[in-house]
Amino acid sequence: MKQYLDLEDINDLDGLIQKAIALKSNPFNHQDLGRNKTIGLLFFNSSLRTRLSTQKAAQNLGMNVMTLDLKTDSWQLEFEDGSIMDANTAEHIKEAAAVISQYVDIMALRAFPTLTDKAQDQKETILKSFQKYASVPVVNMESATAHPLQALTDAITIVEHSTIKRPKVVLTWAPHPRALPHAVPNSFAKAMQMMDVDFCITHPKGYQLNPEITRNTRIIYDQDEALMNADFVYAKNWSSYADYGKVLCNDQSWMITSKKLNNAKFMHCLPVRRNVIVSDQVLDSDQSLVIQQANNRTYAAQAVLKELLESM
Ligand code: CP
Repeated sequence: MKQYLDLEDINDLDGLIQKAIALKSNPFNHQDLGRNKTIGLLFFNSSLRTRLSTQKAAQNLGMNVMTLDLKTDSWQLEFEDGSIMDANTAEHIKEAAAVISQYVDIMALRAFPTLTDKAQDQKETILKSFQKYASVPVVNMESATAHPLQALTDAITIVEHSTIKRPKVVLTWAPHPRALPHAVPNSFAKAMQMMDVDFCITHPKGYQLNPEITRNTRIIYDQDEALMNADFVYAKNWSSYADYGKVLCNDQSWMITSKKLNNAKFMHCLPVRRNVIVSDQVLDSDQSLVIQQANNRTYAAQAVLKELLESM
């Protein structure tokens, strides 16, 4: 693996899942691989899980870790080629990415979408600019349109908790007061398309994800129908893609309750708003996998970093 910008960078998803599960049993087996290697974790946005689990993954492999909060602790970056930088931006991505590349062996980046400029978000300007001007592998820690470390985590969690060969997995939209990005549902949909699962998506009308991502995945607008006989229910809010970044409805009847979940396992990437996305009763039950899922963030990241280190 030469980079991890999206799920397409994985050659063999089933193989990588098994490698991550093996790392979970023996996390310190490859400490020599990362010795004298450094990862730079660069954040334009907040994080709890991604920041700590990626750091832990790198340390498990013997790497050094440097973290930079680009919004608060660094210069404001310019991404436009040929820009006359006489306003707020103090440093161009060309210099920034080249300089950081001299300090680190792998660069990992989090940069959320604007949710106001669809064309710019779809271009993945920040992630792609770092990739273009960095001379080291780049890892996506959630970009405008993708969260592939989360999706790999979710795939690992489903494999670990499946009791049947081809489980039914439902991605359901759930209400939220604020406009949220599409990165998690996009990447989850892609991962499920790469796995041998019975996968469908349910959401209110107007909340269709990018059709280039959902492709021929079944979309069911009746949530109860979609959830019938589900083995895994993955709840997530996202804002409208067609009416870009808008909150079109806040229908509380879409919240996941114990009755809706029935016998399925509950998944969410976290952070989650209790009694908005999902009821306390579900989150506090044995059917919730959210804590185990968050634990798997470490081993998903570790499996990816190991592949990158082995390719150097
Ligand atoms: N799921 C996830 O990416 O969590 P953080 O935003 O806390 O990193």
